[in-house]
Amino acid sequence: PRDALSFAASKIRNIADFPKPGILFKDITPLLASPRAFHIVLDAIAERFIGEHIDAIVGVEARGFIFGGALAARLNASFVPARKPGKLPAACDEVTYETEYSVATLEMHKGSVTEEARVIVVDDLLATGGTAKAAADLVRKQGGYVVAYAFVVELSFLGGRDRLMPVKVESVIQY
Ligand code: PRP
Ligand code: MG
Repeated sequence: PRDALSFAASKIRNIADFPKPGILFKDITPLLASPRAFHIVLDAIAERFIGEHIDAIVGVEARGFIFGGALAARLNASFVPARKPGKLPAACDEVTYETEYSVATLEMHKGSVTEEARVIVVDDLLATGGTAKAAADLVRKQGGYVVAYAFVVELSFLGGRDRLMPVKVESVIQY
């Protein structure tokens, strides 16, 4: 599994100065283009929840949908989208949070998560943790229980993990 994980990690591409000067962007599109790498990261996440009952995966728009949907199918769990404002058609709960440069909002359809449901929040990347925390707050607002967060990539040097404590944080590739 060690070399499988380094194979998957080799499919993450660094793009300098995106989306703005000085930022080194972790591009997951080469990983998605490799069926083997995509499988490896999904397996790596799924195996950490073997034997645990999971009712729902909440995936965060946009890149969290890619991994969250695939993971929900593997874990026989529901998939619930947490979306940027104005995208979901029915009545929503919303959470507003601070990002590095501004404020952002995530919405989830009301009643997406049932009372006491066991939920994993999934996203492609953990940076400061603000986005994932907002998705978890939406789950809790609806009475759900956040079992864990799962990410493909974790930028450890930004300390997002500390912000998500005491909930378990799983990540496949760390920088
Ligand atoms: C990125 C990434 C995570 C989030 C992580 O999403 O996909 O969702 O930022 O940052 P944080 O831990 O500091 O909150 P972004 O909003 O850039 O765009 P996307 O729609 O392409 O996923
Ligand atoms: Mg995102």
